[in-house]
Amino acid sequence: MTRVALFISGGGSNMLSLVESMTGDHPARPCLVLSNRADAGGLAKAEALGIATEVVDHRPHKGDRAAFETELQSVLMRHSPDLICLAGFMRVLTEGFTSQWEGRMLNIHPSLLPKYKGLHTHQRALDAGDTEAGCTVHEVTAKLDDGPILGQARVPVEADDTAETLAARVLAQEHILYPAVLKRFVSGDKTPLYLP
Ligand code: GRF
Repeated sequence: MTRVALFISGGGSNMLSLVESMTGDHPARPCLVLSNRADAGGLAKAEALGIATEVVDHRPHKGDRAAFETELQSVLMRHSPDLICLAGFMRVLTEGFTSQWEGRMLNIHPSLLPKYKGLHTHQRALDAGDTEAGCTVHEVTAKLDDGPILGQARVPVEADDTAETLAARVLAQEHILYPAVLKRFVSGDKTPLYLP
């Protein structure tokens, strides 16, 4: 059984979708929900589901990413995960950490990579006049939002969309795409999945 650690920074809706998918004959189970913020709403949701939680606050290490990641790694090891799913985790991880988890760390990004790496993806798609948008699950490498693509889901952009309405449409697809990609990945299937 593959043990999955999920990293969050906020509400954790993607974490919840992933946790709810890991049941029955699914070859993985959540072993930890970790956040860099003690006030992340997703922590209470994980606790309510009986999942171990940890907080590793990045602020005491201000500017020293390596020190934050050293603490992250030592907390993580207490839970012996086989795989990490970044799910709304808003800290950039350095090569020192990503290299230790190469091939064993996934992320979901709210754009159709390689377009719109980084932040404010929905507003950037609207500003560019894109007619479609979406989300991408990819393996995490040292380069931000750049690893091998494992899946994408596309949504139409509506004429009256705001960043908020588009984000909500994409988020609904994230909750479908990420669990589907995770199940394939832990079953050894890395062929990219494209929805719809
Ligand atoms: C989502 O848009 C996800 O794509 C991005 O973080 C946002 C919040 O996700 N990585 P969640 O509701 O905390 O899972």
